[in-house]
Amino acid sequence: MALRSLILLCCFSVLIQFALASKVRHFHWEVGYVYWSPDCVENVMIGINGQFPGPTIRAKAGDIISVNLTNKLHTEGVVIHWHGIRQFGTPWADGTASISQCAINPEESFVYRFEVDKPGTYFYHGHYGMQRSAGLYGDLIVEVADGHKEPFHYDGELNMLLSDWWHQNIQDQTVGLSSNPMRWIGEPQSILIEGRGQYNCSLAAHFSNGSKFCDFSSTHHQCIPIILSVFPNKTYRLRITSTTALSALNLAIGNHKMVVVEADGNYLEPVAVDDLDIYSGESYSVLITTDQNPANYWVSVSVRGRLPKTPPGLTLLNYHPISPSKIPTIPPPISPLWNDYAHSKAFSNKILARQGSPKPPMNPDRQIILLNTQNKIDGYTKWSVNNISLALPPTPYLGSLKYRLTSAFDNKMRPDNFPEDYDVMKPPVNPNSTVSSSIYMLRFKSTVDVILQNANTLTENASEIHPWHLHGHDFWVLGYGEGRYNEKRDVNKFNLKNPPLRNTVVIFPYGWTAIRFVADNPGAWAFHCHIEPHLHMGMGAVMAEGIEYIGKVPKEALGCGVTKKLLMNPHQP
Ligand code: C2O
Ligand code: CU
Repeated sequence: MALRSLILLCCFSVLIQFALASKVRHFHWEVGYVYWSPDCVENVMIGINGQFPGPTIRAKAGDIISVNLTNKLHTEGVVIHWHGIRQFGTPWADGTASISQCAINPEESFVYRFEVDKPGTYFYHGHYGMQRSAGLYGDLIVEVADGHKEPFHYDGELNMLLSDWWHQNIQDQTVGLSSNPMRWIGEPQSILIEGRGQYNCSLAAHFSNGSKFCDFSSTHHQCIPIILSVFPNKTYRLRITSTTALSALNLAIGNHKMVVVEADGNYLEPVAVDDLDIYSGESYSVLITTDQNPANYWVSVSVRGRLPKTPPGLTLLNYHPISPSKIPTIPPPISPLWNDYAHSKAFSNKILARQGSPKPPMNPDRQIILLNTQNKIDGYTKWSVNNISLALPPTPYLGSLKYRLTSAFDNKMRPDNFPEDYDVMKPPVNPNSTVSSSIYMLRFKSTVDVILQNANTLTENASEIHPWHLHGHDFWVLGYGEGRYNEKRDVNKFNLKNPPLRNTVVIFPYGWTAIRFVADNPGAWAFHCHIEPHLHMGMGAVMAEGIEYIGKVPKEALGCGVTKKLLMNPHQP
């Protein structure tokens, strides 16, 4: 009898373990062009399964995501990158054309299968040409695993996926950027919240004489704002992601403070703010408490860092049981001046790791200083780091590295620094640069510091914001500084006590930003400015490590360039 119950008990515990184990979440996606009116003006965009933005993926930490993606774009390839997911052991699922895989051909399919190992707020987006700018993006939310708890309490959850939108299509934008003279895309027509905005009209028309109310008639139902509906006296977690092509944004909610608790899938020391800056590629979770008079309040998203020509994106925080169609009596919150960089820097410096977060190694094994410059090559406008503008090769690096196809890309070493006499406060004396597919090879498991050094653009007295994003890793943000980085003076200012872990960080005009990471993820990883046109003009680099530990790359990822021939030989991989 005792034996029998013991056996039963064993069976049960196995069953329970099974039930608690991670899940595989399957998705079937078709990516194709759709007619859509994101800002009440009809356009052609890239949608997933006929909708824009793409479906939100929700999973729990430890789950496996399996997306079977079919390309219905007819005349162009496609890939999707899972922004913020580190892809440990699955570097071929990172979704970067020419880096982790070949673009998926029209009518062909590719299965992205990867683990979401860490809870947090993420998103996904196209990573081929400028497809992100065409609307190929959506949210990816990872909740804590069963039996685990978030380190803060909340009663409900709200989402804000932020983006910017142009009426000019991406083919037109792409040709313009790569023409001589370059035709700049200009400022966006609209800011979208959850893929919805209002062009040339205002939700808040009530307050601004001149602008007209928006038309939300049935043909334009796609631009009706998603209202944030809440009950009084509760705490809500607001998940905010920015996948803008260009704009840095500031978000504020009338009468409500926000307590920032998460950034890029990592917990923060909670900090209360009145408004929040978010750069492209970043994500935040904030807690809001609905302790104000039951009413409607404006939620406003405005452009920072560039002279704004785009009206703020708006929606409402709506208290139950007030009707959501009631226009708030208090005007939308006033956002900080677009060029108030002191305000932005103060915000960035408030972002610190939550107690108990992993700490960085005390010293780096290697330091790479990357000078960010705008350049001219044969009259074409480019962006470079250490005077090299990234041109992606036809064969994905992951394949050429793994199978040692050394002729598939430029094998020259990339420089770890830039000339002593370069003046970061002035336009380049010699604006010439080189185009190359060369990469940074990192020693596996080494600690790498990168100092991102901003500089003056080709125009006098101009320096721009660049949000830098690293694939395959989180990095510690050790600090920000003004002017040219000076090792002797600045290294002592690094925060080694509680630097936040992130995957995206901004460099401010004429400033530098220092990050540290451990090169512990076998693969080839993009590191680039998250401004879509800047990446398109070469503002990035590829970093690779642990090549000998890369597992078997699925052959579906390598059907192009030199690797394609390799696959036809049955004795090869
Ligand atoms: Cu979200 Cu390489 O980008
Ligand atoms: Cu940039």
